[in-house]
Amino acid sequence: MTKIVEKHPRFIRWAHWLNFPLLGLMIWSGILIYWANDMYWVGIPEALAVRLGLDYRLAEGMGWHFFVMWPFALNGFCYVCYLAFSGEWRELAPDRASFLEALLVTLHDLRLRKELPPQRGKFNAAQRLAYTGAILLGMAALVTGLAIYKPVQAGWLTWLLGGYEAARREHFLVMLALAGFFAVHVTQVIRAGWNNFRAMVAGYEVVEK
Ligand code: HEM
Repeated sequence: MTKIVEKHPRFIRWAHWLNFPLLGLMIWSGILIYWANDMYWVGIPEALAVRLGLDYRLAEGMGWHFFVMWPFALNGFCYVCYLAFSGEWRELAPDRASFLEALLVTLHDLRLRKELPPQRGKFNAAQRLAYTGAILLGMAALVTGLAIYKPVQAGWLTWLLGGYEAARREHFLVMLALAGFFAVHVTQVIRAGWNNFRAMVAGYEVVEK
């Protein structure tokens, strides 16, 4: 028999889907800024930058970045408050056993192990670690961003992060980690299938009872 069960609360779905274009705009505008001074080991090949229209758009990039950061931060803040007050954080927070279980889930997904460890709650241990990690990365993006946005007013923060250059590098690394999370996340969502994706849109999942 099939049954329809509620999976994701409305508030989480709204925050999740709002976050997608907001983070996309933050990364895109960040790259426009980065192009103007790509000082790290990761450079954007000239031909690619021209092809994608990323060159000579520093002012535009800054305009977007410093505007979109507000809704991005507000959405993240509301989402974290919702998790805290609704008790939904229990579905996301890993515990001590999650690290070993996440390794077993990863081995299973890489087809190196047959059995999955029993899932406790809505998400498996690898998801718990990845989602909690993504939330922490979002916070880290804001903190490192603030350190390089206001290095005088928030001088103490810039100092705590190792100085302006270090904070800039950390901000960049956080962006790479978020992009890495996104790539794995979307791959896993595609692998999980339509029923799982639809639950993040409609809130309900069809389960076999
Ligand atoms: C095309 C883009 C995306 C798609 C299709 C997508 C899809 C999904 C789906 C289907 C789930 C539920 C997983 C499950 O029930 O097993 C989920 C959860 C989640 N996703 Fe995404 N996602 C996308 C982008 C993002 C981005 C950009 C982030 C953050 C960087 C993100 C962070 C999360 C988090 C934290 C959860 C857990 C939400 C909760 O229950 O509180 N997702 N996503």
